[in-house]
Amino acid sequence: MVRLPYVTALTTLFSYGLLFAFGQMRDFIRKILDFPKSKNLGDCFGRPISSAPDSWIDVVERYSNDNNKTLHRTSNSTRCLNLGSYNYLGFAAADEYCTPRVIESLKKYSPSTCSVRVDGGTTKLHTELEELVAKFVGKPAAILFGMGYATNSAIIPVLIGKGGLIISDSLNHNSIVNGARGSGATVRVFQHNSPAHLEEVLREQIADGQPRTHRPWKKIIVIVEGIYSMEGELCKLPEIIAVCKKYKAYTYLDEAHSIGAIGKTGKGVCELLGVDPADVDVMMGTFTKSFGSCGGYIAASKEIVQYLKHTCPAHLYATSMSPPAAEQVISAIKVILGEDGSNRGALKLAQIRENSNFFRSELQKMGFEVLGDNDSPVMPIMLYNPAKIPAFSRECLRQKVAVVTVAFPATPLLLARARICISASHSREDLVKALEVISNVGDLIGIKYFPVEPHKTHAEESRKKLE
Ligand SMILES: Cc1ncc(COP(=O)(O)O)c(C=O)c1O
Ligand SMILES: *[C@@H]1O[C@H](CO)[C@@H](O)[C@H](O)[C@H]1NC(C)=O
Ligand SMILES: *[C@@H]1O[C@H](CO)[C@@H](O)[C@H](O)[C@H]1NC(C)=O
Repeated sequence: MVRLPYVTALTTLFSYGLLFAFGQMRDFIRKILDFPKSKNLGDCFGRPISSAPDSWIDVVERYSNDNNKTLHRTSNSTRCLNLGSYNYLGFAAADEYCTPRVIESLKKYSPSTCSVRVDGGTTKLHTELEELVAKFVGKPAAILFGMGYATNSAIIPVLIGKGGLIISDSLNHNSIVNGARGSGATVRVFQHNSPAHLEEVLREQIADGQPRTHRPWKKIIVIVEGIYSMEGELCKLPEIIAVCKKYKAYTYLDEAHSIGAIGKTGKGVCELLGVDPADVDVMMGTFTKSFGSCGGYIAASKEIVQYLKHTCPAHLYATSMSPPAAEQVISAIKVILGEDGSNRGALKLAQIRENSNFFRSELQKMGFEVLGDNDSPVMPIMLYNPAKIPAFSRECLRQKVAVVTVAFPATPLLLARARICISASHSREDLVKALEVISNVGDLIGIKYFPVEPHKTHAEESRKKLE
């Protein structure tokens, strides 16, 4: 939960107000004077890199002749510590097991099948991966898609349509929002991660029925995510499933950020929170994070998967997943399961958990406001004020730490943040360096909103609690 300090809220609103007022004024003055100068944050976003997204990356240096409005690449790059990529298990860089197999599959199959799944686009790798994904997530069957985003945006309209009701978490990803909108079903939103509000909405909607006719809904699907990617928060899945069971609603779980990254053996939020995958009707996930590849999947009952294979346009009319990308996921899952004959997978999973919990608790000790839950490798550091977005991003980069900042419209207006993604491939030395830099920058730009008294030891604090 966000703990926005009152003064920060006020100054943030004031800053946006000022930006708005000056923006309006500037536009007006420009109109009269044709004034060319302006401030731009262009340099803080879309920075090209010239390496794999490993724990360290090469960030291409750019220059601008028009105050960062247009940026030009140089041939130089800077080696930076990478806190921005979704490389949770470190599979995004060369791997001793995956990479040689991916290269072999590239030689054997080429980068593309140049065909859709139902024509010539199904290779041995596609069928193998579907079986492996189903087994990995604990569902009877699975179907692949070339893109994670399209998995949500194309599948949801096939599962539900007019006369149906989608109840969606207020912070669900844009791909879910667009899939829901495109489905023709009625869409209602419940307060982020609130099972109580979900129940309220369900009750109300079931009592009301369909708009105008008040007929019962043909189908109700509740859509949630395993880890919310802008919040670093875990889904309250057991409570949400209990509500869905009570009202006989279907559940759709997007595990883009949680599959592979959390749970004792990497099997995601169900494993971490002790939920039986049989209680989730549709399990969606992407290969773009923990598995270091691209594409997405739906894992569900044999009937649902069969139905999707016969009806989903993104299966029937889209070129199938790139074979080397499929091989990358197969190899990564085998490493995670220990089927490569080593314990590297188990070590990676222990490492991501240890790294994440270490980094989160150190940031909190420094006085930053960090969102999200323990075990989550995603941790937003709240910036709030719009002037702090480029300040944080540029100052970190100057000290050779690459971070991602997010602001409106990806987050609510007042809640701009930097989003740290921790990887199993970060060494303790990397993390300590990152903490040093972030602490310096935090002091410099004033974002340690919850200062802790530095002299109090842990023992003293717990003693105080007991008194
Ligand atoms: C929750 C969620 N679902 C779906 C996607 C889309 O997946 P992809 O980036 O693999 O297309 C993302 C992307 O970050 C996501 O965070
Ligand atoms: C443009 O970007 C550079 C490098 O990030 C930064 O130092 C500079 O202040 C920016 N200029 C403006 C006018 O925003
Ligand atoms: C690249 O870096 C070198 C050494 O720092 C510098 O001399 C050179 O001018 C840079 N080149 C560009 C195109 O910025």
